[in-house]
Amino acid sequence: MNDYLANPLAFPHEQPNGFPMLEDEPVFDETRHLQIEMPETVISLKEFGYSNEDIAQCPCDFGITNVFRILSDEGAECMLQVARMLEQYTTSNARIARNVRGGAYQSKFLRDLCQSKELTAAVSKICGTDLLPHTIPHQLGHLNYNPKEVGENVDKWHVDTLRIDFVMFVTDPNSVEGGEFEYYLGTKEEVAELKKAGKLLDPAKIKAPVLPGPGYAVLQQGNMVVHRAKGLTEPGERITMVNGYVPRDVSFPDYTRFDQLYLVDPEHMAASEYSRHVTWMGRELLEAQLKGFEFSEDRDKMAENLEKIAEMMAVAAEQLRKAGDAKVEHFGDG
Ligand SMILES: [Fe+2]
Repeated sequence: MNDYLANPLAFPHEQPNGFPMLEDEPVFDETRHLQIEMPETVISLKEFGYSNEDIAQCPCDFGITNVFRILSDEGAECMLQVARMLEQYTTSNARIARNVRGGAYQSKFLRDLCQSKELTAAVSKICGTDLLPHTIPHQLGHLNYNPKEVGENVDKWHVDTLRIDFVMFVTDPNSVEGGEFEYYLGTKEEVAELKKAGKLLDPAKIKAPVLPGPGYAVLQQGNMVVHRAKGLTEPGERITMVNGYVPRDVSFPDYTRFDQLYLVDPEHMAASEYSRHVTWMGRELLEAQLKGFEFSEDRDKMAENLEKIAEMMAVAAEQLRKAGDAKVEHFGDG
């Protein structure tokens, strides 16, 4: 593979059924609504206990950042307004009692924020690798709302169905009791072992970053960092927004847990979005090969390049055919 970087994939033009556009929402403006302050510290995957072999499978070696600012005060106010407008569209799944997925179809503000070039550039800089806003629209601007029942966790211990995302508070975390975002300073294999043995997570490894206000976030390699969102201990409002990214270097194997997405996203959209995403990856991998064309006698290498793409497509096709057989994966509440 040469050093080809993938072209972005435009947001779908079609408006899907069941996802009406919001009316009278704020218009996103990068200059007024973003106030990005870069994180000062980054915890590496090594510090989480991952091996060099594990890290080699990832597009970058960072695990999670400290808290950093994304939105200005005005941006945070607009984001809260949009999140409240979207609240009537919450759905439930086996992990989360109330979330809105696919809000980027309904809110131009949310879509433009999640696809902001300035924000993508900042997130890329933190990761040390070029990223693009996620090419599966349901992986953009995921919103979590506190469950109606006080004490019930917002989201259970889990890893994400994508590689890189940030978790940003939309409401002020200091205006409520509880509702912390927590992550586990260990590997996902360690958590799986503990769960299997019926043991609780090591409390000394549970970290709860302190978020100073709305519009502040942590960026994580979400499929490697086990995390959760705790419930409120008193009635209140807690909303967070999670935005996903894909590496621009498409030579990294795709990491999309379509088996999981199919269980939580609408059937009339989940497969189409995944198929579109994989088609984009295939196109970009082929484009990379064309860009890197040179005369050569190395037939094995040429065959290998073609097989790599064919295999990726075949695996995706198999995923599409067997969708619906899986269970929503998580590590529970303890
Ligand atoms: Fe998550």
